[in-house]
Amino acid sequence: MKLEDYVTSIPDFPEEGIIFRDITTILENAEGLQLAVDSMQDFIADTEFDAIVGAESRGFIFGVPLAYNLKKPFISARKKGKLPREIVSKEYDLEYGTAAIELHKDSIKKGQKVVVVDDLIATGGTIRAIVDLIEELGGEVVKIIFLMELKGLNGREKLKGYDIQAAISYE
Ligand code: PRP
Ligand code: ADE
Repeated sequence: MKLEDYVTSIPDFPEEGIIFRDITTILENAEGLQLAVDSMQDFIADTEFDAIVGAESRGFIFGVPLAYNLKKPFISARKKGKLPREIVSKEYDLEYGTAAIELHKDSIKKGQKVVVVDDLIATGGTIRAIVDLIEELGGEVVKIIFLMELKGLNGREKLKGYDIQAAISYE
């Protein structure tokens, strides 16, 4: 089966008009999980970088195995109020609602080359906020990778000039 075949699409979740692209059916299948991690890993196999930043929470699922396989550190971008030390914080809009994302101030070193990982790009709000925080701390975003891209929401517009790849794409 192809990676796409493991995704489940649920209309009107979490609210009317949204088609929710559910990755739990990828994760619950051993071949699906391997395909997902392997295809994201292919995107960065030849990239020079120092660390992976993953977006809570579904970005953690894919960011950690990539960091582990490629022997790089994993940095957590967490939702508001979860990180215990000094943080930088940014609010953003989502396909459904608003949120804030945070990084520990000392998690990014000046000049550090970073790959950003998430399961999915919709409006691009989450990753734009994370990219802004990484750059505020002096890091350089060398690549942004997703398992899925929802093209209709024009997330790439918010991330012009960045090197972006997604394994699956929906209109
Ligand atoms: C989802 C998804 C991405 C984000 C994409 O996360 O995992 O992080 O939305 O949307 P955007 O491109 O419009 O910002 P969500 O905030 O639902 O949290 P979760 O990963 O904890 O489920
Ligand atoms: N995150 C934001 N939009 C989403 C969608 N349509 N499906 C799954 N996760 C999402």
